[in-house]
Amino acid sequence: MTDAWNKLVERLEELTDLYGIAGLVEWDQAVLMPSKGGASRARASATIGGIMHARLTDPAVGDLLGELEADDSLDDVQTRSVELLRREYDRETKVPAKLVRELTETTNFAYQAWTEAKPASDFAAIEPHLKKVVELKKEQADAIGYEGERYDALLDLYEPGMTSVEVETMFEELVEGLRPMVDTVLDARAPRPEFLSGNYEVDRQERFSQWLTRHIGFDADAGRLDTSPHPFTIMVGQGDIRQTTRYNESDLPSSIYATLHETGHALYDQGFPERWHDLPVGSYASLGMHESQSRMWENQVGRSRDFASFMLRELKKLFETELGSVTPDEFFEGVNYPERSMIRVEADELTYNLHIVMRFELELALFRDELEVADLPEAWNVKMEQHLGIRPGNDGEGVLQDMHWAGGMQGYFPTYSLGTIYSAALFDKANRDLGGLEGEFGKGETSRLLDWLRTNIHSKGHMLDAKDLATKVLGEQPSAQPLLDYLKGKYSDIYSITF
Ligand code: CO
Repeated sequence: MTDAWNKLVERLEELTDLYGIAGLVEWDQAVLMPSKGGASRARASATIGGIMHARLTDPAVGDLLGELEADDSLDDVQTRSVELLRREYDRETKVPAKLVRELTETTNFAYQAWTEAKPASDFAAIEPHLKKVVELKKEQADAIGYEGERYDALLDLYEPGMTSVEVETMFEELVEGLRPMVDTVLDARAPRPEFLSGNYEVDRQERFSQWLTRHIGFDADAGRLDTSPHPFTIMVGQGDIRQTTRYNESDLPSSIYATLHETGHALYDQGFPERWHDLPVGSYASLGMHESQSRMWENQVGRSRDFASFMLRELKKLFETELGSVTPDEFFEGVNYPERSMIRVEADELTYNLHIVMRFELELALFRDELEVADLPEAWNVKMEQHLGIRPGNDGEGVLQDMHWAGGMQGYFPTYSLGTIYSAALFDKANRDLGGLEGEFGKGETSRLLDWLRTNIHSKGHMLDAKDLATKVLGEQPSAQPLLDYLKGKYSDIYSITF
């Protein structure tokens, strides 16, 4: 071990602790904080953020990186750690402090304006803020730099190593297969199963979620499952992964699938090698890869015929009156019920990715200077009609529905669909490697899948970028085809369709 490496590890340990504290503060804000604590908490979060930024961009870190880059005695893990930290260091130091401040301020105001503009369906109220956000994001992208195009720099913040054109190609393939499939499935659809709207006591839903997350492998001595309006998962420290879900009395599947989704994220976080905890390699390969883990447990496992029927048997023990007469077929159909819906977060598995693709296309147009912020509402409505065949009645249920753009998260949306694409491709590979997974799901047995994910994905941390990791595991470049095949298989099973 070189002296420079030891010094760098000391700094990384400190950064890990600061990230953990910031995570805990964020978790507390969403789960426990009284509502009047908001203003002081915002300042506290900004203070911690400032300290983290200063520690990361300390010129001494740059010196250590320079020294280690010239050292050819480093092993693979050290070399990759230096490479990952270099990326982050460069990104953080290339953007001028003034621009960082402006971005924070502008997105804070824009977010505030969004919380009022959305319920009032008032795009004009947020337009000047959004214009400013997009201008600053362009400046940020230019400061960071890119090889291909501007949007690459933004995408890289969430999906390192992936280019806009690569995503575009994958999404085109997805849309081409998906749009006719949606038409066919919706034509063949049966009426909505009645159990989907009922009255399901929250206490019992919670008991089920707590049981379910442990049952599929979440180590509850190394994490917690709590409640928050928007479910999320966050790492506070080694052996401390916080996930949240939400309960709605009239919607049983919503809590079950939020819990399965977040457990997928949490299992990934619990699966990184302990010895890498403080190193950049001991983390996720990309947000898309993280999302692939959540989607796999939510969809490929949770919405499979076999696992759904296993869950129904368990649920009937808690909801005998409510679910007593529901058949496995009906339950399977219900938790996969497809609809053309206006709101992304309520969309089903079949139509969800069309919501993402249209957002990606709009972002790309903005950052390719082919679209003005002022024209977003109309462009949104046109895309909605083109992809989903419906037109929003107002901007509140249209262009204003998500907080991402006001929050300055341009480049984030595509990771949702990349995750879905990865999840289908990886599950298909796991099933081919292992065989007979679905049969085991019927008995509630999922440990062989988890072991496969631990070996092939979780234990690899960020040694490779997501696309390279997926390519290595799959033996070929990831594509949308396995996802399309999977959806076709599922809906031909449910509605006896021949595609
Ligand atoms: Co997620």
